[in-house]
Amino acid sequence: MDSQLTQELIAALPVAVLAVDADARVTAANTAAQAMLGEALTDRPFVNVLRHPVVVQALDAVLDPGHVVPPVSDPILPAVASGGHRMRLQISARGRDIPAEVTVSALPARGGALIVIEDSSGIEAAEQQRRDFVANVSHELRTPLTALIGFIETLRGPARDDPAARDRFLGIMEAEAGRMNRLVRDLLSLSRVETEERRRPAERIDLAMMIRAVAATLQPQADAAGVAIVTAGADEPVLVQGDADQLTQVFHNLVENAVKYGGGGGEVSLRVFHIDHDPVLRGPAIAVEVADRGEGIDTMHLPRLTERFYRVDSHRSREKGGTGLGLAIVKHIVTRHRGRLRIESEKGKGSRFTVILPERIDRR
Ligand SMILES: Nc1ncnc2c1ncn2[C@@H]1O[C@H](COP(=O)(O)OP(=O)(O)O)[C@@H](O)[C@H]1O
Ligand SMILES: [Mg+2]
Repeated sequence: MDSQLTQELIAALPVAVLAVDADARVTAANTAAQAMLGEALTDRPFVNVLRHPVVVQALDAVLDPGHVVPPVSDPILPAVASGGHRMRLQISARGRDIPAEVTVSALPARGGALIVIEDSSGIEAAEQQRRDFVANVSHELRTPLTALIGFIETLRGPARDDPAARDRFLGIMEAEAGRMNRLVRDLLSLSRVETEERRRPAERIDLAMMIRAVAATLQPQADAAGVAIVTAGADEPVLVQGDADQLTQVFHNLVENAVKYGGGGGEVSLRVFHIDHDPVLRGPAIAVEVADRGEGIDTMHLPRLTERFYRVDSHRSREKGGTGLGLAIVKHIVTRHRGRLRIESEKGKGSRFTVILPERIDRR
């Protein structure tokens, strides 16, 4: 390989790479290293560039094989093929502490060493999200479970011979068990959607028919809440490529939310329309808009609305039997369909959720 290409390759690597000579003085640093640790790195002693005892210890071991040091490689990480050391640490980069994976290996031909630093903040953030999710799920399950346990005790004890109390408590227990059941159902659904997210759905479906079916299914719930469901653009077939069960779930969730949280406006409208060119999807699209005239959502909540367990008013959501997972599921399904979800709302005027799907249908 010619040396100019080698240099360009190293410069363009998305991880920080530094070379040091046998005296642990920096001889080269790529662009990512400069971005992470500062512009002027060459000719400086490595310890001044990255002052971390474990890294320095690994460097000593690599530069002087006679040097006796305890092993510093992190046993969890895969070993370095060239016999170097690899560790996970917090390093200080331009005054900021960042989690990083650092590899130190020998450059035998020149008697120096190569140090590679990978920023692992992304991985850390994902791990944190997973921990938060587990904590949230546990909390959401524990609340109804605590109620159930409490009522079981009451039924065994004080309410044992009181038929009226027993009926009332059994009713509450049924509601709490139902809540747990919905939560488990939504969790399974979320996990299924996530598993399939990278596989593009291939069924050909008629959105218009689907919209009419969803409206009909939710009619009783809407009637009970005194809400009229109005559809538009759903008389002629509108074909898209998708997963029928999942898209039904999307519209069911959105219409149910509109009835539950925006029903105060008395009307929920469902409109299917064509978009000649969607700027984000870069092409023709089909949109399904679910709009209500309820109290709307404060703008500050909009960016987080599709996060798992995010609710504007948790008390109200629980009271209405919500799990806080509906919009997270919607978002994942729409993403799987290579589409997008647009949420607009104005406090006091209502909310509008628009699912925009690419119109292109693969010919098979
Ligand atoms: N049409 C709407 N009008 C007002 N608020 C809404 C609407 N749709 C969703 N929300 C808010 O977004 C939150 C998240 O919705 P979702 O993920 O479906 O969870 P939930 O299980 O609570 O329905 C709801 O708790 C509610 O606060
Ligand atoms: Mg919901």
